[in-house]
Amino acid sequence: MNGTAIARAHPNIAFIKYWGNADERLRIPSNGSLSMNLDGLYTETRVTWFNDADRDRLILNGQPTTGPALDRVVRHVDQLRERLGLTGKVEVESRNNFPMGAGIASSASSFAALTVAAVSAAGLELPEHELSALARLGSGSASRSVPGGYVEWAAGGTHQSSFAFSIAGPDHWDIVDVVAVVSEVHKDVGSREGHAVASTSEFQRERVATATSRIDICRAALLDRDFSRLARVVEHDSDMMHAVMMTSTPPLFYWLPGSLELMSAVRRWRAEGLNVCYTLDAGPNVHCITTSEDADEVESRVRSLGCVHTTLRAGAGGPALVVG
Ligand code: PMV
Repeated sequence: MNGTAIARAHPNIAFIKYWGNADERLRIPSNGSLSMNLDGLYTETRVTWFNDADRDRLILNGQPTTGPALDRVVRHVDQLRERLGLTGKVEVESRNNFPMGAGIASSASSFAALTVAAVSAAGLELPEHELSALARLGSGSASRSVPGGYVEWAAGGTHQSSFAFSIAGPDHWDIVDVVAVVSEVHKDVGSREGHAVASTSEFQRERVATATSRIDICRAALLDRDFSRLARVVEHDSDMMHAVMMTSTPPLFYWLPGSLELMSAVRRWRAEGLNVCYTLDAGPNVHCITTSEDADEVESRVRSLGCVHTTLRAGAGGPALVVG
């Protein structure tokens, strides 16, 4: 087996967040989540299987890479080898077209692209839900970068039943994510450690218990293209996740003064009539969710704030695809 394949996958922004695992090893989440793929931004990954190589290799953005990044790739490929009965070693060559530290996690697009490329390079064809479940083993949110457009990940309780699926294609609604970068500094506590301590917050139980109803509201708002309903549930869900983060042991504070300045500006702009709301992942940068109609105005207001270093902009993106 000496197959090779190239796959591309988009990162995604969660409207209803995944935080905490029911099963750490399998990354079965404590609650379901809902997201949008980010068009124009992608990871492109080439995987080549070798029968005669003695170890897996990683080339990241053109640089041969060892250490934790390679270890994580090897752990993921080990799972693929085990579950799909594959032998051989891989060379993985991966590149992002978006800057690191811009508030867009690359693990979702990276593990989605790696999974889709590795499976195709091995000569296998798997249904989308199986690719999504496999991508989940590398990074939970990667399961949501496999299907296209607006995507729901139902928590499930087993490896096979915990996968993401599209609830609407990218053309369903022209939602735009304007990312306001307030800091490029790499976060010291990543999501993997964060998930592991989520249950130490007494708020996590309540957040998990009420997640299904927020997913129902968010799904309905998306399907009805009802922005004000979407805005309320998206901000509330982000605030709830950050309340859990701040009250876990150790406490995780991702917000910076600039994040708070943006959050209150976004609420003010919405009160003035703009279609805009905020959501923050495990970092200080603020994703300003808007529509294509209001995106120019939102981006120019965001850029006028002194705390904002730069902005990035993306609409709804398609599924992970084999491109070569
Ligand atoms: O997939 P992970 O382990 O990087 O976790 C993602 C966690 C958040 O980005 C904070 C929320 C989410 O649902 O994407």
